Amino acid sequence: MKIGFGCDHAAIDLKNEMVAYVKEKGYECIDYGTNYDENGEIIKCDYPAKGEEVGRAVASGEIDYGVLMCGTGIGISVSANKVPGVIAAVCSEPYSARLTRQHNNANIIAFGARVVGTELAKMILDEFLSADFEGGRHQRRVDMISDIERRNSKK
Ligand code: RB5
Repeated sequence: MKIGFGCDHAAIDLKNEMVAYVKEKGYECIDYGTNYDENGEIIKCDYPAKGEEVGRAVASGEIDYGVLMCGTGIGISVSANKVPGVIAAVCSEPYSARLTRQHNNANIIAFGARVVGTELAKMILDEFLSADFEGGRHQRRVDMISDIERRNSKK
């Protein structure tokens, strides 16, 4: 399974910790940045740009799941959700992370570096990556989400 990570300048340290954690678990990881430059300076990045970049990578099948981080997780997830095919959910605890896979078939999880600590972020990510979509009655609702996207996209 290929996991892509993206963040704005507010979440570089948490993102790097999550990449290392998930790599250690044996997943293939792609780091879309942002990062520090060679002088240790933050490479600034606006969250909409990173949300779109990782959203497109998920939608195209380049990666299986995306993990996005900004200060709150809100701006970057809202941006990713504008890419057709993306279902991105901000989660601040593990229960929602599990349910957003099982019920919403989310393909991106987001969290806020100013909201969750490293250990909680690891637990959230563990739940997200180990849960499967349950289909059944949830498929019909996820199809309704896709239908909203279709009906409201510009021709
Ligand atoms: C950046 O300061 C901050 O606005 C951003 O990381 C995020 O929290 C937006 O939703």
